[in-house]
Amino acid sequence: MRKDDGYKPMMARVTAIVKESPLIKTFRLSFLKKDDGKSFSFSPGQFSMFSLMGTGEAPLSISSSPLEDKYLEVSVRNVGNVTNAMFRMKKGDTIGVRGSYGRGYPLENLKGKDILIVAGGIGFPPLASAIEYMLDNRDDYGKIWILYGVKEFDDLMYKKRMKRWSLAKDLDIIVTIETPCTEWDGCVGNVTELFTKLKINGRNTAGLSCGPPVMLKLVTSGFRKLGISDDDIYLSFERMMQCGTGKCGHCNIGDKYVCSDGPVFSYSDVKKMQEMVW
Ligand SMILES: Cc1cc2nc3c(=O)[nH]c(=O)nc-3n(C[C@H](O)[C@H](O)[C@H](O)COP(=O)(O)OP(=O)(O)OC[C@H]3O[C@@H](n4cnc5c(N)ncnc54)[C@H](O)[C@@H]3O)c2cc1C
Ligand code: FES
Repeated sequence: MRKDDGYKPMMARVTAIVKESPLIKTFRLSFLKKDDGKSFSFSPGQFSMFSLMGTGEAPLSISSSPLEDKYLEVSVRNVGNVTNAMFRMKKGDTIGVRGSYGRGYPLENLKGKDILIVAGGIGFPPLASAIEYMLDNRDDYGKIWILYGVKEFDDLMYKKRMKRWSLAKDLDIIVTIETPCTEWDGCVGNVTELFTKLKINGRNTAGLSCGPPVMLKLVTSGFRKLGISDDDIYLSFERMMQCGTGKCGHCNIGDKYVCSDGPVFSYSDVKKMQEMVW
């Protein structure tokens, strides 16, 4: 985070755009001022606030590696005012960025472990950043499994990235879609059904997930059945946000603020606040 800890956004320019699917685009951004680029840092699972003048601000997770210092990437699903305006951005346009905020996945503490990643829909971006980081530090982690599920074929994102990741050593990816269609000959069903395909010793494994609340509940149950300890289960939650810094109270779950205590919580912490989580 910047030293001034303020709300003033740093300006970044769109340098590339990838249309992942009809509703999702990935934007590559570079800060206009070199000093902003140098002072900006994040860890996978944290979020930043992205703003467009006259439209508003939205919290988004950065999906590129935190070790990449020339640019950052965000993947955006077009659902409302800000995301729709972002969807219309062209190469060369500018956008405000402030942050990073919150707590991400504790990847430093997970070194030496096998990692099971379960992503649902637009929950993939923060986990994609975690995957990029682990591949940048491949020898620090054991086997990596990636389970990714979407509702429709058209929701599938990161096809190119997944191809690249699948070439890495000791990394398996399984993708499933809920609604069968003629374009798809892979797995069909809910992402949690993919757990039956895994042969995992949960004791040395950490489970990382991000997706809709109902999915997180089922994923947690799947992680626990594999023997993954509650301390090694990390879930990212989404709530409506305004300040992003623990001041406005918009994002609370009980006595926790998702923006500053989360968005990533261990299941040990989630258990203490469970009635209000899902
Ligand atoms: C920590 C965090 C990380 C996120 N990362 C990403 C990401 O990487 N990519 C991405 O596409 N999206 C991400 N989101 C979701 C994204 O912030 C919202 O989709 C965005 O704020 C919508 O803004 P808008 O102005 O486009 O929509 P609005 O015009 O504000 O709203 C559109 C509709 O969505 C509802 N809505 C808006 N925000 C939320 C929310 N957070 N939870 C539930 N309902 C909501 C509104 O009530 C409304 O019905 C993240 C959210 C959080 C909290
Ligand atoms: S968004 Fe303001 S307290 Fe969390």
